[in-house]
Amino acid sequence: MPAKLFTLITGASEGLGRSFAIECAQRNMNLVLVALSGSGLDQLADFIYRNLGVEVLIFEKDLTLDNSCQQLFADLAVRKVQLNMLINNAGMGNTHLFAEGSASFYEKQIRLNVLATTLITHLFLANYRKNTPSYILNVSSIASFFYLPQKQVYGATKSFIYSFSKSLCKEVKKDDIHVSVLCPGGMNTNLAIILTNRTVNWISRMSIMNPEDVAFIAINALLKSKEVIIPGKMNRFFILLSKILPKVLKNLIINHTVKTIQPDNKWIRYFKGPQTVFNSSVNS
Ligand SMILES: NC(=O)c1ccc[n+]([C@@H]2O[C@H](COP(=O)([O-])OP(=O)(O)OC[C@H]3O[C@@H](n4cnc5c(N)ncnc54)[C@H](OP(=O)(O)O)[C@@H]3O)[C@@H](O)[C@H]2O)c1
Repeated sequence: MPAKLFTLITGASEGLGRSFAIECAQRNMNLVLVALSGSGLDQLADFIYRNLGVEVLIFEKDLTLDNSCQQLFADLAVRKVQLNMLINNAGMGNTHLFAEGSASFYEKQIRLNVLATTLITHLFLANYRKNTPSYILNVSSIASFFYLPQKQVYGATKSFIYSFSKSLCKEVKKDDIHVSVLCPGGMNTNLAIILTNRTVNWISRMSIMNPEDVAFIAINALLKSKEVIIPGKMNRFFILLSKILPKVLKNLIINHTVKTIQPDNKWIRYFKGPQTVFNSSVNS
């Protein structure tokens, strides 16, 4: 009998990761969901199992801690879980000036966005090779196409993911492993971000998407082996503009857009702590 196959999703408790979990379950995929402890993963798993009937395993892990990715790998190996899809979604954003962020915050951000994505992909590669055709979706951002004030480290981590995915795609295609990189613009993923999104200018607001729509588009494109996935006509238009506009005009637009973003600090502190919120502008 063929082994039961699972899709591993990091950062699955809320936002885009949660939408990925529901989208994949609707397509009859069994799930391994990872997020921080106390994030409500058990309720989500219960909801998915009851309503969509697929098998759901949950792992509460802080992926920024030493050896957490290796522990996840060992936990799944003990249970003999076989994977044929990986969605590296967990990520931390920021909207503050570089000097205002703490060293420990940047360390955590790089560990989650860069290190965990790399290690998880590497640890499970043999598993994906065994269960072909298999699929890896790395979540970058439209920010990887721009150089944005107040998103310095975030943008750089997303550029890493973009470049890593494009190169890996070329390496493993011959093994029937399909790698895609998703570059979404702003999304209404959680309440703090939704409140911030209300403050951005009208043109940025037009590009904001719902995570459910992004997850649907992304999984369709991943299964068609599309290398780079940019959901939304407006986001594709912004990237085109950035390629054809003169530098001076581009900088004017970017500076104006960044100035209009006013994160609602009260809600951000309540939901996320002081420094861990994505800013969903045109250039998220
Ligand atoms: N939102 C946007 O506008 C936007 C735009 C472009 C790209 N993106 C990218 O899309 C992805 C998802 O964004 P989102 O807005 O949906 O984020 P979100 O709502 O903040 O959710 C992030 C998820 O990651 C989990 N997570 C955070 N830190 C973790 C850690 N140390 N270890 C394990 N899991 C952790 C969170 O778990 P808890 O619930 O326990 O915190 C949550 O499930 C990110 O990679 C982000 O960069 C977002």
